[in-house]
Amino acid sequence: MTTRILTGITTTGTPHLGNYAGAIRPAIAASRDPQMDSFYFLADYHALIKCDDPARIQRSRLEIAATWLALGLDTDKATFYRQSDIPEIPELCWLLTCVAGKGLLNRAHAYKASVDKNVEAGEDPDAGVTMGLFSYPVLMAADILMFNAQKVPVGRDQIQHVEMARDIGQRFNHLFGKGKDLFVLPEVVIEEEVATLPGLDGRKMSKSYDNTIPLFGSAKQLKDAVARIVTDSRLPGEPKDAEGSHLFTLYQAFASQSQQAEFRADLEGGLAWGEAKNRLYQLLEDTLGEARERYNALIAKPADLEDILLAGAAKARRIATPFLGELREAVGLRSFREQVQVATGEKKKASKSARFVSFRDDDGSFRFRLLDADGEQLLLSKSFADGKSAGMVNKRLQSGEALDVRAEGLAFSVWIDGENVASSPEFADGQAVEAAIARLREALAPQE
Ligand code: TRP
Repeated sequence: MTTRILTGITTTGTPHLGNYAGAIRPAIAASRDPQMDSFYFLADYHALIKCDDPARIQRSRLEIAATWLALGLDTDKATFYRQSDIPEIPELCWLLTCVAGKGLLNRAHAYKASVDKNVEAGEDPDAGVTMGLFSYPVLMAADILMFNAQKVPVGRDQIQHVEMARDIGQRFNHLFGKGKDLFVLPEVVIEEEVATLPGLDGRKMSKSYDNTIPLFGSAKQLKDAVARIVTDSRLPGEPKDAEGSHLFTLYQAFASQSQQAEFRADLEGGLAWGEAKNRLYQLLEDTLGEARERYNALIAKPADLEDILLAGAAKARRIATPFLGELREAVGLRSFREQVQVATGEKKKASKSARFVSFRDDDGSFRFRLLDADGEQLLLSKSFADGKSAGMVNKRLQSGEALDVRAEGLAFSVWIDGENVASSPEFADGQAVEAAIARLREALAPQE
């Protein structure tokens, strides 16, 4: 059983060491777990809300993409893309905007903070507030619901946004799902043990405090930053308080147990701060040196990065495109071709007569087909060793849970728990694929 995890990275800055330890490193580790199906993307539409400097937006997208790849994100395994390459996301955002309560969005922390500040300053409450800022949580809900993510790892400041995505998704399910869940409701994941790294001055490492250590600056920049770490004034030879020093905390985030123990003992034995800084620098250089080379090579070839991200977008759209087709269908944005059926009331009858046909293959394995009302094949299941497993999958398909349908070329497949359980035949063109997926949804929707 795989779990789909999804998270976005707003592309406004350059990643620093704190982003690496707090977000990037755990995300890349999670993407290697065979139980996880991970979706990581550059939230560049969100970046536009906070930043109106095109050069900065462009540079940050490039740097963040190169950072994740240099640090070892495997794009064969994870789905890695730019939000702005998925036109289905803003389209879904509109469908969600039409069900999201304004009152709900009035309560968003980021918006409320702006209003409070304005009121305090005696300004109009909405001074300087754009619709982008106000609707920020709806766009984020679209990011998450588009791919039916089950788990969304984020920082504490984003918890409310994930809860709003649940609210909005639930309302959409209620209004348009006809008793069936169109959207999976996401759960927030806060990694408690993940380090929030201290910065040079001991406060949380953050761009807004200007106390960061660059992740992929030059070796010299790294050395200079480490040299600026604030320590107490104990002299060489005087015992140092390792636990109380953020230099030690920084060291711990990247060192093995035995390195940590040795460093602690040396500090308590009077190691000079200058020497301690050298050791931290060396550790960081050992940890990041090779990745920095990969990073520089990637940055030097932006066209290759473009190809990697476009391939990621194509992979994501194989899910997003057919799913959005179903959502459009659900809200009533349907082809006129199907109108006749609805108008004559035949639709329900037609959907009732879609049927599963079980059979045994030549090799003795168990399979089933799903035929639509006209007897046309929509799905052929994979082979099962016994009738019971085939029956269980068959039952899951009819249970009303959210369907994971993935289009690929002129066909589509249906997935359960990260496994391809059934595939369609090839259709004549993209429109025929979408129409067949709509018939599939219809056939599997619970009967009223
Ligand atoms: N708002 C998030 C942040 O600033 C980034 C983000 C955008 C995101 N869309 C998302 C995170 C979807 C998780 C899921 O950190």
